[in-house]
Amino acid sequence: MNNSHGEGRVVALVPAAGQGVRLGENMPKAFVPVGGSPMLVLAVDGLIASGAVDEVVVMVPAELVDETRDLLDGTDVPVTVVPGGAERTDSVRAGLRAARDASFILVHDAARALTPPSLVSRVVAELRSGVKAVVPALPVTDTIKSVNDAGTVTGTLIRSTLRAVQTPQGFDADLLRDAYAIGIEATDDASLVELMGTAVKTLPGSPLAFKITTPLDLMLAEALMDPQESVRA
Ligand code: C5P
Repeated sequence: MNNSHGEGRVVALVPAAGQGVRLGENMPKAFVPVGGSPMLVLAVDGLIASGAVDEVVVMVPAELVDETRDLLDGTDVPVTVVPGGAERTDSVRAGLRAARDASFILVHDAARALTPPSLVSRVVAELRSGVKAVVPALPVTDTIKSVNDAGTVTGTLIRSTLRAVQTPQGFDADLLRDAYAIGIEATDDASLVELMGTAVKTLPGSPLAFKITTPLDLMLAEALMDPQESVRA
């Protein structure tokens, strides 16, 4: 039986093979602890707590595969750990190869360690209702400008039409495999699906699904993990 109470397996791919130099810690970002647990463990726990995921595939630096298997031992759903690649896209491709029997695929950055389980289940519900591609998104609060190589402004984008997208991003598995077969790099998975001309739906994201990238993000994440500040739902 599927965890997610419906036809078709949901497999979550967790790219965690980045070095994360912007965080300034002396280890790959996904292994940096937040509230005492590595980000990767928090991200995987959040996926599993949603009750909507049947299997998790984690992609880590090759030298950390064994350690990660130990770290994620004993979870409620099967977790497969495979080596990632040089770029995020390569890591997701490695995960796709390990998720052959999936009907639906989520791709969820380990760095979004505090993502609420309720967001994961909302993404899966969209997929199960027949949506082929869905991403959590939030309105942007800053005005966004384009610049040239010299840093001179070349344009101002219309803020009301812009969204900052998060993960987990959800896809029909065959669609995502076809999109990856195109063989180009992208900073998120939905952009590859967009290139195929498939509509990508947005649903309301969560401020708690922010990507822990800078030392300031890490301070915020630590504060949110403080038991007295427990806001993660
Ligand atoms: O670098 P960025 O913040 O965009 O990374 C997003 C996610 O992709 C992180 O969880 C990171 O570990 C992962 N990643 C990966 N393989 C790479 C680069 C990044 O799995 N080669």
